[in-house]
Amino acid sequence: MKIRSDFLVIGSGVAGLMFALKVARFGKVIIVTKKEVTESSTYYAQGGIASVLSGEDTFEHHIQDTLTAGGGLCHKDVVDLVIRDGPARIKELISLGVKFTRRRKNEKEYDLAKEGGHSKRRIIHASDITGREVEKTLLKLVKANKNITVYENRIAVNLIVTDNKKESKCWGAYILDIKKKKVNTFLANVTILATGGAGKVYLYTCNPDVTTGDGIAMAYRAGARIANMEFFQFHPTCLYHPEAKSFLISETVRGEGGILKLSDGETFMKKYHHMKSLAPRDIVARAIDYEMKRTGDECVFLDITHRKPSFIKKRFPNIYKKCLSFGIDMTKEPIPVVPAAHYMCGGIVTDKYGRTNISSLYAIGEVAYTGLHGANRLASNSLLEALVFAHRASIKAEGAIKEKVSLPKIPEWNIGGAVDSSESVVVSHNWDEIRRLMWNYVGIVRSDKRLERARRRIDLLQREIDQYYWNFIITSDLIELRHIATVAELIIKCAMRRKESRGLHYNIDYPEKNDIKWKKDTVIKKKKQNYFDKKLIFMLH
Ligand code: FAD
Ligand code: SIN
Repeated sequence: MKIRSDFLVIGSGVAGLMFALKVARFGKVIIVTKKEVTESSTYYAQGGIASVLSGEDTFEHHIQDTLTAGGGLCHKDVVDLVIRDGPARIKELISLGVKFTRRRKNEKEYDLAKEGGHSKRRIIHASDITGREVEKTLLKLVKANKNITVYENRIAVNLIVTDNKKESKCWGAYILDIKKKKVNTFLANVTILATGGAGKVYLYTCNPDVTTGDGIAMAYRAGARIANMEFFQFHPTCLYHPEAKSFLISETVRGEGGILKLSDGETFMKKYHHMKSLAPRDIVARAIDYEMKRTGDECVFLDITHRKPSFIKKRFPNIYKKCLSFGIDMTKEPIPVVPAAHYMCGGIVTDKYGRTNISSLYAIGEVAYTGLHGANRLASNSLLEALVFAHRASIKAEGAIKEKVSLPKIPEWNIGGAVDSSESVVVSHNWDEIRRLMWNYVGIVRSDKRLERARRRIDLLQREIDQYYWNFIITSDLIELRHIATVAELIIKCAMRRKESRGLHYNIDYPEKNDIKWKKDTVIKKKKQNYFDKKLIFMLH
C-alpha cells in the first residue's frame, strides 16, 4: 500500500510533534511512531529546558557554559543562534499551554533550577516531569489538528532515496506496520527524521526502549553524513536497583544541593573539579566510574537528606515516589546511583535549518548533529535544541513542498523468498551481545585494544544480522537489531579515529586533548555503492 502526504515525520517526541504542529498550516502531515505516541525520551525528561530567563543571567553566560562543556568542538555560530532563540521558544511553549513550575515565594515568576556546568539558575521546569508536561501538551494539539494523522506501532525500516549525478533525494520511507506485519510505502515531499537517540546500544541506559538509533542507521545507509558519534553522554546518576531499569535521578537534585558520596560517606568530587558534584557530566561520570573501580563498590550515593523533607517531596515528587517504591526514602537516606548511557551528542549532520546532505531529508532533535553540543552536551540544552530546530526546519520545509517534482516509480516492498523465522533466539542473543560489548569495550573509558576488539565483534555480528535480514520476514526486533548494529559500528569507527581524549571520549592510550590535530568533528559517510536490495527488487542508494 502507498500512503502519500506533504510531510512525513518519523518520531513523536518533542522535535517531531513541534515540527508537525508548525507545518500543518501548509500541508498534510503524517507522523509515524514505533509504539504508543507518547513513548519517547521526551516523555521521561525530568530536569527541564535551559534558557536565559532571568535578569541575573545573560546570553553570554549561557553561551560560555555551553562552549566550556563542549570541550572546544561546539560550533560557535550554532550555539549563538540556539541560545538567543531560547526565550522565544519557551514563550511559545507557554502560549501553547505548557505549565511550568512557578516560584513558591513569588507566583508571578517561574522557578529556575540549576544543573551541572551551568553558572546560573536557568532551567525552566514542570516539577520533575518536564518532558511529560511538554509531550502531553503538544500531543493534545496534534490530536486536535485535522491536517495531522498519527500512525502508532509503525517502525521505519529504510529511507527511500534515489541518486542521480546531481543529487541524492529522499521520497519517504518503508514502514513496517508492527501489528499487521506488513511493510507500507510512505511517500512525501519532505521527510523528517525525529527518531531521537540510541541509548539502547548500551547495556545500561536511562533511555526508553524506542531509542535504538534508527534514524542514524537509516540515514547512514542512504548516504547521509554522520558526525561525532564517539561522544556518547553517560548520565552520572541513575538509580542503582535491580528492578529500577536505570531510572534517572535528575541532575537538578544536585542543583538543589545533593552531594555525591562514597559508601563510607567521603565526598569525593572535590578531587576532580572545583564545581564538585555539579561539575560537567563527563567529569562526574568518569569520576564515579573511577571511584567504583577503585573501591570495588557497585554504586556511589547521592545525599540530599540535609534539605527539608517537605521541600524534597514538593520539588521532586516523581523521583521521591519512585525511590520510595524501591524502599529508598530520599528524605532520610542517600540514593544509590550509577552512571548509564543517556544522550547521543553526535548524529546526522544538518545545516542551520535541519537539512541533511540528502535533498528533502531533514533531521531534528537528538538524531541530528547541528554543532551545538560539541564533545559534551550541557544539561538541559537538548530539549532547547529540539525546539529551536523544529522551528527553523519548518521555515525551509514550507518552501520545499511548493517545488514541483515528478515522483519516480517507487516499487512496493517485496518479501521475495523470505520465510518466518523459527530461530528468534538469534535476534535476542545478538541484541544482548551488542549492548554488552558496547558497555564493556566502548563505554566511559576506552582503549585502542578494546575498540579493536569491539570492531571485530561488530563486523561478525553485522554479517550474521544481514543474512538474517535477507532470509527471514522482518519483525520490529530484527529491524531494531539491524539499526543498533549500525549505530554501534558508527560509534566504534568514530572512537577509533579520534586519537586523543576530549569531552565524553576518553581513551587511556591518548589521555590528553590534542588541539593541534583533533580540534575538529569526526565526520563519516558511507562509500557510494549501489546494491541490490532483495526486499525491494530494485537498486537502492
Ligand atoms: P524522542 O523524544 O526520543 O522521540 C523519538 C521518537 O521517534 C519516539 O516517538 C520513537 O518512538 C520514534 N522512533 C524512533 N525510531 C523510529 C522508527 N524507526 N520508526 C518510527 N518511529 C521511531 N534533555 C533536556 O534538555 N532536559 C532534560 O531534563 C532531559 N531529561 C532527560 C531524562 C531522561 C530520562 C532522558 C532519557 C533524556 C532526557 N533528556 C533531557 C534528553 C531529551 O529528553 C531528549 O534528547 C529529547 O527529548 C529528544 O527528543 P526527540 O524528539 O529528538 O526524540
Ligand atoms: C536531568 O534531569 O538530569 C537530565 C537533564 C538533561 O539530560 O539535560
